[in-house]
Amino acid sequence: MQNIYINQLKDHVGKEITLQGWLFNKRSSGKIRFVILRDGTGYVQCVFFKGNVSEETFDLADKIGQESSIIVTGKVKEDPKQVGGFELDATGLIVIQNAKDYPITPKEHGPEFLLDNRHLWLRSKKQVAIMRIRHRIIKAIRDFFDDREFVLMDPPILTPNAVEGTSTLFETPYFDLGKAYLTQSGQLYAEAGAMAHGKVYTFGPTFRAEKSKTRRHLTEFWMCEPEVAFADLNDDMDLAEEMLEYIVQTVLKERAEELKILERDTSKLEKVVRPFPRISYDEAVEILKKNGVDFEWGGDLGAPDETIIVQQFDRPVMVHRYPAQVKAFYMKRDPENSKVALAVDVLAPEGYGEIIGGSQREDSLDELLSRIKEHNLPQEVFEWYLDLRRYGTVPHAGFGIGLERTVSWICGLDHLREAIPFPRMIYRNTP
Ligand code: 4AD
Ligand code: MG
Repeated sequence: MQNIYINQLKDHVGKEITLQGWLFNKRSSGKIRFVILRDGTGYVQCVFFKGNVSEETFDLADKIGQESSIIVTGKVKEDPKQVGGFELDATGLIVIQNAKDYPITPKEHGPEFLLDNRHLWLRSKKQVAIMRIRHRIIKAIRDFFDDREFVLMDPPILTPNAVEGTSTLFETPYFDLGKAYLTQSGQLYAEAGAMAHGKVYTFGPTFRAEKSKTRRHLTEFWMCEPEVAFADLNDDMDLAEEMLEYIVQTVLKERAEELKILERDTSKLEKVVRPFPRISYDEAVEILKKNGVDFEWGGDLGAPDETIIVQQFDRPVMVHRYPAQVKAFYMKRDPENSKVALAVDVLAPEGYGEIIGGSQREDSLDELLSRIKEHNLPQEVFEWYLDLRRYGTVPHAGFGIGLERTVSWICGLDHLREAIPFPRMIYRNTP
């Protein structure tokens, strides 16, 4: 007899095998007891017939509580009507631990209760599906860049300065050096990497002390940031578009089962193919005005504005050339219009908002120095970054894709908190 996983059952039809896992659900009817076992790779119904198993085993199958850890032996039968397409004709049952009063029952629970029990909630069917999709998205992102010979370069998490504005910085005491900050983005380090390797990407946790309680903000989230030397804004948009198409089409292929569990309308995802519409901020403002929004040129787009813009199209929309005043200090100004930055935001369909932010970087030392002054940033901590312009500066561009925003869009989730194993928000840092 062999220990196998549920997703291997297809290779063992007619054979007696052993599965190890947890009791997902159970029911009884007269001489039959049904135990649904889950092992992380799937779900299978194990059927205990009175007479086929000992009296003791038959009783035990009724006594064990939800989420008890169990080992079940039995013969694999093909049955297209059952979850996963197989059933186990059980011959044995070993209980490792009989769990009592598992807090998350099949009935409805409120979000706060579920978040308090996140360590257990992760076992629920939808949460398992989401995490399997998240993992596949991470793998797709890494494969995409690895296949194109980008070098993965890990930036530090403890940093001496802000990247994305000073209002969302987490600070921590740092020995005799005073203060350190949790990184908001690995970008500045990725730029150093691009000058060493040509093409790099970072992938790791980033932090924002976001005071907003929206469905789209976490205080700790994961971001992948590619950076390319000798690239301009158009190259940057080409890369973002190709990557997004690859991610979505890969998940559609490789995680169809999970998308079904989430009841995701996949017809909307199937449309995510190149080319994506590219509109300037000015054109976006026109769209807003045509739709009755009283929008003044110069402000950032809010979530409701983004929703109106994406509603005009059937795939992600790239909005470029934002007013420089709402964007970060490191972005290059458009040589044709110094009021706008060579920036791009990629807005996801169906109202999921900005999933990617990117730009061509300011590559002139003098321009960058004046930006640092205009933004009242301390020049000393940026000396190393300025060196990248002093020694062999080249045009370069990159972007950051927010992992949880991407996961929540692809999975069709209402809130980012289900897109990460243990969400961190303004009002929550447990479990
Ligand atoms: O637009 P952002 O702030 O851009 C940067 O950090 C650049 N340094 C990226 C680059 O050019 N290398 O953030 C990038 C993405 C956003 O589009 C969004 O998907 C995600 O990161 N993001 C957040 N996700 C969850 N919670 C938050 N508080 C987020 N803030 C940004
Ligand atoms: Mg942004």
